[in-house]
Amino acid sequence: MDQQMERPASSDPVRRSDFGDDFVWGVASASYQIEGGWDLDGKSPSVWDTFVHNDRRWPLPSKVKDHTTADVSCDFYHRYDEDLALAGAMGFGVKRFSISWPRILPEGSGRVNAAGLDFYDRVVDSCLAHGLDPWVTLYHWDMPQCVNDRGGWTSRRTVDEFAEYCGVVAERLGDRVKNWMIFNEPASFLLLGYLLGFHAPGRRSLNGFVAASHHVALAQAKGAAAIRAVTDGKVGTTHYFAPIRNTGDSPRHRRAQRRTDALLNRMFIEPNLGLGYPMDDLPLLRRVEAFMLSGDDKAIEVDFDFMGAQYYTRLVAPPLPLPLLGTIPMPGKDLAKDDVCTLGWQLQPDGLFEVLERLHGYGRFDEIVITENGMAVPDHVEGGRVRDARRIDSYRRHLSEARRAVRAGIPVTGYLCWCLTDNFEWADGYRSRFGLVHVDFDTQQRTIKDSGWEFQDFLTRGAAYGE
Ligand code: GCO
Repeated sequence: MDQQMERPASSDPVRRSDFGDDFVWGVASASYQIEGGWDLDGKSPSVWDTFVHNDRRWPLPSKVKDHTTADVSCDFYHRYDEDLALAGAMGFGVKRFSISWPRILPEGSGRVNAAGLDFYDRVVDSCLAHGLDPWVTLYHWDMPQCVNDRGGWTSRRTVDEFAEYCGVVAERLGDRVKNWMIFNEPASFLLLGYLLGFHAPGRRSLNGFVAASHHVALAQAKGAAAIRAVTDGKVGTTHYFAPIRNTGDSPRHRRAQRRTDALLNRMFIEPNLGLGYPMDDLPLLRRVEAFMLSGDDKAIEVDFDFMGAQYYTRLVAPPLPLPLLGTIPMPGKDLAKDDVCTLGWQLQPDGLFEVLERLHGYGRFDEIVITENGMAVPDHVEGGRVRDARRIDSYRRHLSEARRAVRAGIPVTGYLCWCLTDNFEWADGYRSRFGLVHVDFDTQQRTIKDSGWEFQDFLTRGAAYGE
């Protein structure tokens, strides 16, 4: 059990200068979570639009906990310049955002919607005007509904449609966008959307999940090639990583841990590195052979320019009498109220170091960027201020772990906060606030939280974060 104990936080104040001049600092967001304008200017519905609209059909139990939608959300579609100005004023140098596929290709492929491309063109220019380098994610889960109707990621045809979309976007924005991320967290949308049905498109099928996972692995490669065919920017992708702890030391415990680790941390990245699917540790992956064509093992290899690591918490995998996995991964039991975010994830900053060290261990990445890290706590505006001391403590401790990685010689080259403004947190609706900027969703009023002011001091005045 020793390994479950947390290393004490560093007492050494963390400053921007500890990371060197080339280290990049940014904030991230995702199209569906912030944009609103769900049916404007030629955009077709995405799987998330369908999911949340169908979700509201009483008396079916709601999948989105507070019965909300992101039809409007932060209204970034109209307020992008105001929000990007805030990010620039806080001293960030990078804005990571995603493109909504159904704004660009409303039928999934073929006809290009000029108004959709124009919108992102304006966003890119606004980033640059506010001193922000625009980093673009091609897929942060909002697939066109029509593509899903043809099978979504379970269909191999989607790989080609996705690559076409990547090429169209890169062709238009590639003169100004120099960093691309093909996917946001395949583990999350494939497990939650295709296996468990908790997220869009709400499918529940093991074979569908396995097929979709293989097609996404192929799409990483085809998407990267489509971008590289028209631009000289760096191409990476992002993955969710959660170190998995044992709850005991029997063979059953160890097997549950290995299977969960293969499912969450290995199966979505290793095929792209030429390491194949971790079938020995996760036998259910043998099913992937039914969807592999000859040559696929080579076709899915990608030489990424950087790898995006997204970290929030560790999980435990207690052995349970269940088929296939023999466990359900869950948060640890040592939960103290103040250490848990509103989604139930425990604050375990040293897990970030663990993730970075392990990724580095693949020996494949010259650059590892922390593309997401943050904490959701209940925030309130009082007298024009949001005193989010717990979020500040979380950032301070995670930054310290990022610095530990840099000092250990791991090539970590950037840190992007999740996220700029409070927004629609998928199945959690608006209950979980992750922003450095508070949003009043009735008035669209923005209020920089204390954690955001801390970043301004840290980034622009050399101050130690959270001290
Ligand atoms: C994800 C996504 C983000 C989330 C964030 C907090 O990791 O699920 O990239 O869209 O909002 O991680 O859950």
